[in-house]
Amino acid sequence: MGDQAKLSAAGGDYEFPVLKGSVGPDVVDIRKMYGQTGMFTFDPGFTSTASCESALTYIDGDEGVLLHRGYPIGQLAENSSFMEVSYLLLNGELPSQDELTKFEFTISRHTMLHEQLLQFYRGFRRDAHPMAVMCGVVGALSAFYHDSTDISDPQHRKISSHRLIAKMPTIAAAAYKYAIGQPFLYPDNSLSYTGNFLRMTFGVPAEPFELHPAVEKAMDRIFILHADHEQNASTSTVRLAGSSGANPFACIAAGIACLWGPAHGGANEAALNMLKEIGTPDKIPHYIERAKDKNDPFRLMGFGHRVYKNYDPRATVMQSTVREVFDALKVDDPLFETALRLEEIALNDPYFVEKKLFPNVDFYSGIILSAIGFPTTMFTVLFALARTVGWVAQWNEMISDPGQKIGRPRQLYTGPTQREYIPVDKR
Ligand code: ACO
Repeated sequence: MGDQAKLSAAGGDYEFPVLKGSVGPDVVDIRKMYGQTGMFTFDPGFTSTASCESALTYIDGDEGVLLHRGYPIGQLAENSSFMEVSYLLLNGELPSQDELTKFEFTISRHTMLHEQLLQFYRGFRRDAHPMAVMCGVVGALSAFYHDSTDISDPQHRKISSHRLIAKMPTIAAAAYKYAIGQPFLYPDNSLSYTGNFLRMTFGVPAEPFELHPAVEKAMDRIFILHADHEQNASTSTVRLAGSSGANPFACIAAGIACLWGPAHGGANEAALNMLKEIGTPDKIPHYIERAKDKNDPFRLMGFGHRVYKNYDPRATVMQSTVREVFDALKVDDPLFETALRLEEIALNDPYFVEKKLFPNVDFYSGIILSAIGFPTTMFTVLFALARTVGWVAQWNEMISDPGQKIGRPRQLYTGPTQREYIPVDKR
């Protein structure tokens, strides 16, 4: 028998099995706890609760380690491509050249949107946030693909996954085009996944589009950095929505809705807005003081993380990519200097040191995305585009798990106990 965790409570002594992963902290298996003890555990925000088994992504937040199927994020960002990482997350192993070519071809065959889906955009106000458009349009995909909605069929799941990954760039680019009043561009499957997205976003029908290889590479790397991040809020949302057997497109729309919030995917937009508000390095001390003031709601956006209590390894790659993009585009942005200085000051301040608050992936990404030409409202959309691969891989993993159950947390009830209804004229 393996290790057991002992619990003495409610007048009894109980033992629960301790499960071991391939790496990382052990986990106390409390599935039988309610049946044996009549008690639940209380863990708002799931800070101590593993909600599933997963073989996709491993994070060691204390050491600043992020592995996809065992491969460190730094190595993937340096040497791989978003398509290859997508294959890895979906299938568990890196593809051979032949497998990669076939996968890229398959994805490219699903890049177009149903013409009727394009009509949906016209129902949105021009000034709608593109994440609002993403939630609506991705959810609407569930009304279109009736040929692949049997989620118990692995082939159906595969086709839905490919469709989602393939169509996200087209949907995201159209959301941008609609906001700025330019015509939608159809995909060009002779381009790479990322090149195609950049063309659909920044190209216009009136002239040929020039794809900048350095920008294509940087964008692809940003997609890799956002591909998956184990059981974060939006991924858990996708899993919870999917646990009822819901349509995969609707589940991804739920993930997009969750990602939108400023504490999650919206943080890159918030981080750049904050840097703009700070402006020059001389204003930094004022904002540092505000971030430390408990009576002030201001937080350093792009700083701190639920899991990383060390430098987010994605932020390291992001910081070096800023310079690459600046050099390639021959641009500069004084906000980068402000960001570097802010990081330096914060990392030497006891408040941030003691609370282990380091820059996260969002701290530098806004500067790069802005240099490439994206408005801040598109930042979270790009995150959603890339995270779609993680969402579908996690959703597939969950549905294929024979022990999968509908997600149904418990609660600590603090409301009134049973009482008699009183008619309105007697109250
Ligand atoms: N600035 C100032 N203080 C902070 C910050 C920050 N960015 N982040 C955390 N703290 C403080 C909190 O006030 C709290 O202090 P206390 O213990 O005195 O009450 C302590 O550090 C712990 O913070 P929590 O909010 O309890 O930590 P949690 O794990 O719940 O939150 C979160 C993590 C939401 C990411 C938080 O650090 C934050 O709001 N950061 C800014 C937003 C951001 O960058 N989000 C992106 C996350 S990465 C992603 O989604 C891709």
